[in-house]
Amino acid sequence: MATSSNPDTPTLASGPSVSRCRLDLVGCVAVITGASRGIGRAIALNLALRGCSVLGTCTNETSLELISSVLDSEVTRSYKDTARQRPSRLRIKGLGTIGEMDVQEVQHSLLGNIQTPVMIVDELVRRRLFQPDSRIIYISSVRSKQPWSRQLMYAAGKSAGESLCRTWAQAFGGKEEKYQFMAGTTANAVLVGLTQTEAVMNCGPDMVAEFQKEFFPAQSIPRFGQPEDVADVVGLLCSAEAKWITGSVISASGGGIKIG
Ligand SMILES: NC(=O)c1ccc[n+]([C@@H]2O[C@H](COP(=O)([O-])OP(=O)(O)OC[C@H]3O[C@@H](n4cnc5c(N)ncnc54)[C@H](OP(=O)(O)O)[C@@H]3O)[C@@H](O)[C@H]2O)c1
Repeated sequence: MATSSNPDTPTLASGPSVSRCRLDLVGCVAVITGASRGIGRAIALNLALRGCSVLGTCTNETSLELISSVLDSEVTRSYKDTARQRPSRLRIKGLGTIGEMDVQEVQHSLLGNIQTPVMIVDELVRRRLFQPDSRIIYISSVRSKQPWSRQLMYAAGKSAGESLCRTWAQAFGGKEEKYQFMAGTTANAVLVGLTQTEAVMNCGPDMVAEFQKEFFPAQSIPRFGQPEDVADVVGLLCSAEAKWITGSVISASGGGIKIG
């Protein structure tokens, strides 16, 4: 998610050379959930390299150190303050195996994939922190289109996230007087394919092999996605040139899900 007009610009402790990127997001602020690892971290790096200020979330002190290896100490301190105020680790037991769920698992899944993004966008709207031509990007999954009995709630949550984007797109484009202050804002979901992050690789070799067997045959490019592959797509949607794409689901899955 990126909004314009905050002058704070993070400097980078490591990562690719800034000179290879255009500084097209100077003055913008991005709020990124799960910015310490995997896809969220790659997105934070992509946007920060383009001059964007980043406010990210993570769940523990170790992860704060991971963030500090990307962004300068001033930005990291604000992460730390926020994290200390709101310890937020959710214990998600599973992704919704049919016949084995309890209410807590259902609620936590809805909390992570629906309630939290809704409340973040709502808070930013209420405080009028969105600027004209802002970007809302929801990270969905191939699972929203390719069902599996062991991920009932995950699939439902991601599908709902795609629906949220359609309604946000319709509300924030400029047709509603109430949201004129953020006219031109786009909302899209990025449907992510199998990506090589700790969350996936920690499932163990058998499960990873199962994932490969399920997803690679459908992909046009038969390999694991890297977090940077997904970040590049999110980065495209954050660019000024993406102003006419809204209410869409964009597949970042090496062709695993073909939308059109
Ligand atoms: N990897 C894939 O193949 C894949 C495919 C499709 C969609 N996605 C989606 O992409 C997004 C990122 O996934 P990922 O694979 O990069 O890894 P992830 O483990 O889902 O995300 C890692 C980041 O999220 C934070 N996080 C993890 N669990 C959390 C929780 N219960 N409450 C609050 N924050 C939490 C972590 O913070 P800490 O560092 O503090 O733990 C870290 O910053 C997710 O929405 C996922 O559903 C991933």
